[in-house]
Amino acid sequence: MPTDPNTVRHYNTNAEQYHAHVSDPTDSTFHSLYEKPAIRAELPEFNDLEVISIGCGSGVDARWLADNGAKRVVGIDISKGLLDIAKKNNPDIEFQEMDMEHLAFADESFDLAYSSLAIHYVDDWTQPLSEARRILRSGGQYIFSCGHPIDSALEYAVEGDIRYARLGRKVNNLTNERTVYGNYLAPDSGGVMPVKVMLGDIEVVVHHRTFSKMLEQILASGFTVERLVEPQPIKGDPDHYEQLRKIPTFMIWVLSK
Ligand SMILES: C[S@@+](CC[C@H](N)C(=O)[O-])C[C@H]1O[C@@H](n2cnc3c(N)ncnc32)[C@H](O)[C@@H]1O
Repeated sequence: MPTDPNTVRHYNTNAEQYHAHVSDPTDSTFHSLYEKPAIRAELPEFNDLEVISIGCGSGVDARWLADNGAKRVVGIDISKGLLDIAKKNNPDIEFQEMDMEHLAFADESFDLAYSSLAIHYVDDWTQPLSEARRILRSGGQYIFSCGHPIDSALEYAVEGDIRYARLGRKVNNLTNERTVYGNYLAPDSGGVMPVKVMLGDIEVVVHHRTFSKMLEQILASGFTVERLVEPQPIKGDPDHYEQLRKIPTFMIWVLSK
């Protein structure tokens, strides 16, 4: 299943709002103090490399890659609204409207593929990863971040004044009644299930998948796994630091061709 059309509509409708969010490090601390430093730490020296930013959004990462010496940066995204902002703010960078499942580039066009929090919008990674691998030169890497399945397995509930996000069980000692919270294995949908996520006021649909499904889809694309990183947050966000030290929201994959 490709990216949910409602997700694309939400990004288009709220493009300015999303761009303001990712451009303000104090607003997007899950990016600035967690995901961005973690994914950037995994990048090779990219001074002489041609880089594609897949799911580039409003171009924040493409700007960073260009400013930090990439030989050429191309950004692609499925949201025209976000791309309009990317093009307006970065006239020196090439951006194209494109679905990551069908990359309109010749084989072996890039040295490095980079993608931040975009691939989890697609339920089967085999196709977008096969495409990314096809357009990479031999030895090229694909470094991407995505939602961590511990996070997407959580179940949300409100009880009185308390909001819960929980994965586990409750057992009544007297009756032995057992209540299960959350769903990691997603048995009714073969290990992959759609999950609604609020990004501020924007509702999008991402796909939870088990670790075994991730690995199955990565290996089916032909990529080799170099490493998987479960990052630690940087101190600075008192609301989330303690949470992210112990319970992951995102993870980073480093693959090579
Ligand atoms: C959470 S945003 C991240 C944007 C950008 N990487 C950043 O960090 O600011 C996810 C992005 O993935 C894009 N996206 C989702 N599905 C896509 C697809 N099938 N092909 C290309 N882009 C896609 C969305 O339009 C959105 O820009």
